[in-house]
Amino acid sequence: MRALVLSSAEAPLSVQEFPDPVPREGEVVVDLAAGALNYRDVWITKGKYPGIHFPVVPGSDGAGWLNGKPVLLNPSLQWGDNPAAQGKSYHILGLPTTGTFAERIAIPAENVFDIPAHLTMEQAAAIPLGGLTAYRALFSRANLQPGERVLISGIGGGVALFVFQFARAAGAEVYVTSSSAEKIARAVDMGAKGGANYREEGWSGRLKAEAGGFDVIIDSAAGPGFPDLMSLLLPAGRIVLYGGTRGPIPNLNPQQLFWRQLNILGSTMGHSGEFADMIAFIDRHRIEPAVDSVFPLTNGQAAFDRMANGLQFGKIVLQIDN
Ligand SMILES: NC(=O)c1ccc[n+]([C@@H]2O[C@H](COP(=O)([O-])OP(=O)(O)OC[C@H]3O[C@@H](n4cnc5c(N)ncnc54)[C@H](OP(=O)(O)O)[C@@H]3O)[C@@H](O)[C@H]2O)c1
Repeated sequence: MRALVLSSAEAPLSVQEFPDPVPREGEVVVDLAAGALNYRDVWITKGKYPGIHFPVVPGSDGAGWLNGKPVLLNPSLQWGDNPAAQGKSYHILGLPTTGTFAERIAIPAENVFDIPAHLTMEQAAAIPLGGLTAYRALFSRANLQPGERVLISGIGGGVALFVFQFARAAGAEVYVTSSSAEKIARAVDMGAKGGANYREEGWSGRLKAEAGGFDVIIDSAAGPGFPDLMSLLLPAGRIVLYGGTRGPIPNLNPQQLFWRQLNILGSTMGHSGEFADMIAFIDRHRIEPAVDSVFPLTNGQAAFDRMANGLQFGKIVLQIDN
């Protein structure tokens, strides 16, 4: 089969012949029609992902055909029995196993789900990893309630936009941050109450004056700006962190944390029950994922460059001719 292959760290990705998948017991082979990028794939191309090996076919998000039926794939593999946290065998599709940026993939049959009827193949491929991460962070971890006020940082991100759409559909009042005025404006067009540019001096004070504080904040940046986010939480507020794009948090104020009864919650991906619930939620609310752009698999490197440069608003999709 043909696949988008990374031969070594920092090498350009290229479409090459790659061995066809051989299904193990309990697995099926899906003919892929589209895949989508996650920041994880960019980390992999930089050789910075634990367990990296070469050559590797990246890709955690995929949609395609199984026995003539349109399907999408749950990239959470071997979560285990405990819904509160994944077990030791847990791994994500696309490393160490061969990923979705290929014509075919072998995957456990239990990870294959029907595509909601209102979605195209490209929209469906945009959902799995980001949608699952967003769903668990917002509902299982933050326990979002209708009418609550939510802040989503870095709204251009793939996961962030799912959080946005899910929170709105669940009846929350949503604000956003971004490095880009244009992305904030787009979020406001989609129903955000307001937003702030996290690169501007004094942004958090201005946002607090405007919005009055937040019940829930969903963040993937962490880093030195995290205390600014914490200052925006209402007493007993919850902040869920699912990424660490800006690295460690150097200056957390313990007094602020305990005196204001704040909750910092970590979240990663989700289990198969959450995946099924997430797809049903998307179906029920007729949610269409924000697709930033669609590239042919043969131009995969350009898709990776777009994500690495942070230019996207939503998911970057790869179209796979099959
Ligand atoms: N734990 C998990 O299960 C899980 C799952 C998925 C992703 N992640 C992690 O979450 C992060 C985002 O992943 P993604 O796939 O959504 O990536 P993405 O689509 O590339 O989004 C990254 C976004 O981060 C935002 N950002 C950058 N610096 C920021 C800052 N200082 N403050 C706030 N936002 C900032 C940018 O938003 P603007 O362009 O609007 O400025 C950018 O669009 C990555 O670190 C990834 O590894 C973790």
